[in-house]
Amino acid sequence: MRGFSVVDSTSPGALADYSAWRARDYFETYYSEVVLPDEQAVLAYQLEVMRRADVRYGRALEYGCGPTLHRAIAAAAYAARIDMADWLADNLVFVREWLASDAMESDWNRFTHFILQCEGTPDIDPVRIAHREAQARKAIHGLYVSDARWHDPLGEERRGYYDLVVSGFCLDAVSSDRGVWRACMQNVLSMLAPGGTIVIHALHDCTAYKVGERMFPGAGVTVDAMAESLLENDLTRASLDVQVIPCPDNAVYGYSGILTASARKPPTP
Ligand SMILES: C[S@@+](CC[C@H](N)C(=O)[O-])C[C@H]1O[C@@H](n2cnc3c(N)ncnc32)[C@H](O)[C@@H]1O
Repeated sequence: MRGFSVVDSTSPGALADYSAWRARDYFETYYSEVVLPDEQAVLAYQLEVMRRADVRYGRALEYGCGPTLHRAIAAAAYAARIDMADWLADNLVFVREWLASDAMESDWNRFTHFILQCEGTPDIDPVRIAHREAQARKAIHGLYVSDARWHDPLGEERRGYYDLVVSGFCLDAVSSDRGVWRACMQNVLSMLAPGGTIVIHALHDCTAYKVGERMFPGAGVTVDAMAESLLENDLTRASLDVQVIPCPDNAVYGYSGILTASARKPPTP
């Protein structure tokens, strides 16, 4: 989820919409070489939230997965079943191809290695990596095309359904309009079950980020805006954690910090 060129965030008229998105380009540009430092930070954060919860989640959802598997691979040791959703079918084709493959060598091996390292797994080798990826393939259940701008983005029957929702750099990337982001937050958070946990990442205070030659929107989310949104959607203040991970070297790409947050819904009384 990174840009690699100077972004002129002052010209929103130049923003691309997602009809111009190419899953392969996104993967090649941002995920094909190393686990970038900001990605290391948010993956470690997701793992820490899940580890601390000390529960096995029944139903998990990765919302806005794009063509990526690493957040689901991370969740696979903590959740019995994982659904994945994104607006673009092209992204889900990428996911489906990975699910259908049983190759030990996969695009996500280095991310799985990093995940196992964060968990303190000794003697990480290709067999352990393949085992975790097989666990993810088994846990991943439904792949859904969904628009976060819809009320009930996965249908009314998924309201209050998921024990864990993970969403990386999606809801803040839908539009540069903060009101749209707030509505997307409300829609996606409505799928959390009582007692459920959200882990969400956004580009901090970013109004445009670049993929390839195109600029895509950012809603300019700040710590206060994230905290307010989580609280207004009934997540508990006591569970709320919002952090900014600085990455000043990325300022030229349109952002100089990554925002990561987690919170829980109150259990049913
Ligand atoms: C920057 S990518 C993040 C992908 C992935 N989660 C990651 O961390 O790399 C933003 C994602 O948001 C998805 N997206 C854009 N508009 C959306 C919408 N209205 N509803 C759901 N997903 C949307 C895009 O298809 C894209 O996969």
